[in-house]
Amino acid sequence: MVTHNQLSTTDIAIKNLYVSFPVKTGLVQAVDNISVTFKHGQITGIIGESGCGKSVLGQAILGILPEYVQRCGQILYRDANIFADNTVIPNFYGQEFALIPQNPGEALNPLRKTGKQFNDILLTAGINDPDDNYKISLLQFFGLADGRRVLAAYPHELSGGMLQRVLGAMSICCGPAWLVADEPTKGLDETACAVVYENLGKIKTKKDLGMLVITHDLQLARSLCDTIAVMYAGQLVEYGPHVLNAPKHPYTQAFLAALPENGFQPLTGLPPAPQDNLQGCRFAPRCKSSMTLCHKEAPPACTVGTAEVRCFLYA
Ligand SMILES: Nc1ncnc2c1ncn2[C@@H]1O[C@H](COP(=O)(O)OP(=O)(O)O)[C@@H](O)[C@H]1O
Ligand SMILES: [Mg+2]
Repeated sequence: MVTHNQLSTTDIAIKNLYVSFPVKTGLVQAVDNISVTFKHGQITGIIGESGCGKSVLGQAILGILPEYVQRCGQILYRDANIFADNTVIPNFYGQEFALIPQNPGEALNPLRKTGKQFNDILLTAGINDPDDNYKISLLQFFGLADGRRVLAAYPHELSGGMLQRVLGAMSICCGPAWLVADEPTKGLDETACAVVYENLGKIKTKKDLGMLVITHDLQLARSLCDTIAVMYAGQLVEYGPHVLNAPKHPYTQAFLAALPENGFQPLTGLPPAPQDNLQGCRFAPRCKSSMTLCHKEAPPACTVGTAEVRCFLYA
């Protein structure tokens, strides 16, 4: 693990995390031995192909995995193992961790005025009867000048872009230490996407916050994130601040080379099926640089400059 500076209690320290789903054909290993520390005060982007375990990792941190998962490992936060029980932390949802929902249509109640929905969220943090000026100032921060009208409106009376801004204001209204956004731009049209970029950029200016942004949108990751974590088949293969400009792991290199702006050289083959109990490096069957050892043993985490890379090329 690369530790750039001292661990703080508001960092998220993940240790040997495993999450698997029992299915008819066996076990789907969604997260496979991940150890990493996400630094508070930084924006970390979690990237990787669809199905590689990004959302499950986010759900593990938020404590919202289904009951039936098989799990092991620790997620340490404020000196507690929140993976075992996050209710030991007072106001875990709202004041410690908040979520940026993907879609206003699903996140907001169409039959309740936005001001009332704001109050519902503030109530979870024990704030009864909140001051309208606080809500209005948050809406202004997210670019809505007429906050009083917005608070008095039902969601259908506001445009899609305005609703995105309302969600931005709601996401930080309880002053969370951490925000988690899972695919915040997925499926959005260009206008809504631009508002999400703007919202996240605004939130970034708040230095007392950590953010995890799970995304397939590498433009977003590039413009927003301080650190990037790359996942492949349930494992973290590379982690560091310059991953998108100077990728070290053969998977990260191939993933980036497949982008249209980098020449669109597709990565051949498929990731292993989740039930495949591959020995060694999970990327080895697709890797141009693989050696015999890669098929037999799991690679160690190697420090390469500012990055941590799980690959025998650097061992
Ligand atoms: N509730 C579930 N039951 C069974 N398998 C699941 C469940 N949720 C996720 N998975 C599996 O876990 C793996 C990781 O999924 P996910 O974290 O959603 O991937 P992504 O990187 O696209 O967010 C996938 O193989 C997915 O099919
Ligand atoms: Mg996902």
